[in-house]
Amino acid sequence: MAYGLLNGKRGIISGALDENSIAWKVALKAKEEGAIFTLTNAPIAMRMGAIKELAEQCNAEIIPADATSVEDIENLFTKSTDILGGKLDFVLHSIGMSPNVRKGKAYTDLNYDWFKQSIDISALSFHKMMQTAYKQDAMNEWGSIVALTYMAAQRTFPFYGDMADAKSVLESIARSFGYQYGKYRNVRVNTISQSPTPTKAGSGIGGFDKFFDFADKTAPLGNATADQCADYVITLFSDLTRMVTMQNLFHDGGFSMTGISEDVMALINKE
Ligand code: NAI
Repeated sequence: MAYGLLNGKRGIISGALDENSIAWKVALKAKEEGAIFTLTNAPIAMRMGAIKELAEQCNAEIIPADATSVEDIENLFTKSTDILGGKLDFVLHSIGMSPNVRKGKAYTDLNYDWFKQSIDISALSFHKMMQTAYKQDAMNEWGSIVALTYMAAQRTFPFYGDMADAKSVLESIARSFGYQYGKYRNVRVNTISQSPTPTKAGSGIGGFDKFFDFADKTAPLGNATADQCADYVITLFSDLTRMVTMQNLFHDGGFSMTGISEDVMALINKE
C-alpha cells in the first residue's frame, strides 16, 4: 500500500544490479510513493542489462558512474538535477565490493591494493557523493541521504574481512558529513545497518548461508528482508524523519541487541 510519502520528491538511487538488490526494491517503492529519480551503477553493471528493466518500470533514466570517480559523480549530480528539473531531496548509496572478500583472501593475508579498492568503492565513494552534492549545492533543504551498512563495523564477524573496516569508515563519514550538511542545508545523513540479505554482494561473503540462518535464529523477529529494508529507507527519505541525522540505525529484527536466543541454544544442545 502506498502512502504518497515521496510525492514531488527527486532523488538518485545507486546500486540496483538485479531484482534481489536492496536498491532495486527501494527504486520500486520510491516510484510507488510518488518520487522521480535517476538510477546509477558502475558502467560494468550496465552491461548486465537488468537495470534497464528497472528503469523502464520506474520511468527513470540511467546515468552510469563508477562511484570511485569524482568526475563520474559530478556528471551524475549535474545530469540528475537537469533531468529531474531541480535540486534533489534524497540520495541512496547502496554500493559495496571487496576484491579481498570476493577472492577469498583471509584477513591476515590481505592484498593492500585490493584493500584500498574496498575502502574506495565501499566507503570513500559515500564521501565523494556527498562532497559533490555539497559543492554543487544539489540538495534541497531538509533532504535525506542514506547509505547501507553492516554490523561488522561494530562487532567482529571473521568472514567479513576488510569490508568490516570499510563499513566502519562509511559509518564515520555519515556522522562527520551529517554534521556539515546539517549546518549547511538541514540535510540529514544516516546509515541503515541491515540483516544479512541474499543478494549478489551478500552471498559473496564466505559461509553466507549458515550465517544467514544463525542471524535468523538469533533475532527475535528473524532477519529483515530487502523489501522491509526498502520500506525503512523510504521512511528516512520522507518528511516524517526530518530530525533524524548522523545515526547508524539497525534494521535487523533485534539481532544486534540479542546475546543468545533459545533457538540457537536448542541447536547447540542437539550436537
Ligand atoms: P548488490 O550486489 O545487489 O549491490 C551492490 C552494488 O554495488 C551493485 O549494484 C554493484 O554494481 C555496485 N557497485 C560495486 N562497485 C561499484 C562501483 N565501483 N561504482 C558503482 N557501483 C558499484 O548487493 P546489496 O546487498 O543490495 O548491497 C547494497 C548495499 O547493502 C551494500 O553497501 C552492502 O554492503 C549493503 N549491505 C548488504 C547486506 C547483505 O547481506 N546483502 C547486509 C548489510 C548491508
